[in-house]
Amino acid sequence: MSVLSTRPALKAEIDKVAEVAGYLWTKGWAERNGGNITVNITELVDDGMRALPAIAGPFSIGTALPELKGCWFYCKGTQKRMRDLTRDPMGNGSIIRILPDCAHYEIVADAPVAPTSELPSHLSVHNYLLAKGSLYRASLHTHPIELVALTHSKQWMRKDAATRMLWSMIPETKAFCPRGLGMVPYMLPSSVELADATIRAIDEDYDVVMWEKHGVFAVDTDIMSAFDQVDVLNKAAQIYISARSMGFEPEGMTDAQMKELSDVFGLPK
Ligand code: 13P
Ligand code: ZN
Repeated sequence: MSVLSTRPALKAEIDKVAEVAGYLWTKGWAERNGGNITVNITELVDDGMRALPAIAGPFSIGTALPELKGCWFYCKGTQKRMRDLTRDPMGNGSIIRILPDCAHYEIVADAPVAPTSELPSHLSVHNYLLAKGSLYRASLHTHPIELVALTHSKQWMRKDAATRMLWSMIPETKAFCPRGLGMVPYMLPSSVELADATIRAIDEDYDVVMWEKHGVFAVDTDIMSAFDQVDVLNKAAQIYISARSMGFEPEGMTDAQMKELSDVFGLPK
């Protein structure tokens, strides 16, 4: 029996993951096993779950993360497909708990599905968020076509060059992604170096960070909100590319229009 069957609040959170996984597939952002999701579910874990034995592990995280003591996560499984996860989140992902040494985890439910290869980045970011007292509980890595395409030009890798362009394509972009888009130069997928660079970028005050020539990493209160931020940014990139493919450079909103928007909606400058 699934641990979700008697825990409606936990099931609701995992249902959101399954729904988002379906969006990632239909958007074409989740080829094969591309992308991964983790959710900090610690606040939804009860005594009954805490008493469950491990079904696999312990395994090394590859780094020690002190804020994660006693934390629990839902993780997409490595090599698992988003399009399969949307039908069966507990067959294509698993629930893990962090051991007291904060450097190892074990798999608790429902099946011994090994977590995503990007676990170092995901868990390091959750560790950082908890240390900051953030209410963010979800992180999403995905391969949105147009945003990844932008990172193949040094022009858009310059700090905040892509942010300014994307914000100016349609007013909602700044309103719903007010921190813009951070940039992380290419690093080996799943490496601790990539995890550390991602945290440095998030610490500069971004919720969404590009991994050059690879994908995005986004954090928010829940997985639906993390997805929304990426969706809004990628829509802006699509508008830019549509204009370019119609043969012209889009004008973008003017500085005065951007300032008015920021003043009226109370957005950061
Ligand atoms: P996983 O299947 O291990 O989650 O990897 C997918 C991915 O996008 C790696 O960057
Ligand atoms: Zn990836």
